Amino acid sequence: MSLTVLQISDCHLGDIAGETLLGLNTDESLLAVLALVNEVCPQPDLVVFSGDISNTGGDGAYPRLLAAVKEETSICAPMLWLPGNHDDNQKMQAAVSEGFLGSKTMGAWQISCFDSSIPKAVPGNIEAAELQRSENILKDHAAQHHLFFIHHHLKPVNCAWLDPQRIANAEAVMACWGHYPQLKVVAHGHVHQQQQQKFSHVDIYSTPSTCIQFKPDSDDFSTGEEMPGFRVFTLDDDGSYCTDVYRISERDLGIDRSASGY
Ligand SMILES: [Fe+2]
Ligand SMILES: [Fe+2]
Repeated sequence: MSLTVLQISDCHLGDIAGETLLGLNTDESLLAVLALVNEVCPQPDLVVFSGDISNTGGDGAYPRLLAAVKEETSICAPMLWLPGNHDDNQKMQAAVSEGFLGSKTMGAWQISCFDSSIPKAVPGNIEAAELQRSENILKDHAAQHHLFFIHHHLKPVNCAWLDPQRIANAEAVMACWGHYPQLKVVAHGHVHQQQQQKFSHVDIYSTPSTCIQFKPDSDDFSTGEEMPGFRVFTLDDDGSYCTDVYRISERDLGIDRSASGY
């Protein structure tokens, strides 16, 4: 029996509905993404929100996202949450009530979320206690196949402005995780673009934002032309899997292309 995991990332919702990011209404683009979820992945077994749900760290974004999922989709799956650099950990945890930095056994798979955020800072880091928690999960569920979610990137993504923000202790994290053959995949957000990489035997995937995209292979901040989207993993009992990114149809999102930052 295969499992379907939906990853939604980097919604950057304002504290109040309808706020914009570089001219793009992040609530509107989220609703467009959720409409596409209804078409291609209406009944996932699990939903993972991989950080930067709020744009400002306020507490208004999380209830609005939960309401949108409830009212605009047929999703009734459990949810896991992890914070990004734009989130406030306490506010996210309080708003979502369960699934914050959770780990869930689902059939032959164990799906887990880890914190790569540093309070009030943009770059990533995985603290020793969090890395130890990941190892404990790998050891405690050694017979499972593992899918990990984090916010920041482990490997450079060939964007000079973004790469200093990758997980500061990424080499140590990859050296640790590379020892565990049961770990199959690490998925992340933060880079607002679709990429696939690898360390040791582990596949790494990044997932588009539900709002603005960052231009691939760009030295300086620049928005990408790609449309907002999400990722779906289909996990099989034997540890094999497939994954696809889906994006909304081309439209004018009102993005200010001259912006030099966000
Ligand atoms: Fe983001
Ligand atoms: Fe981020």
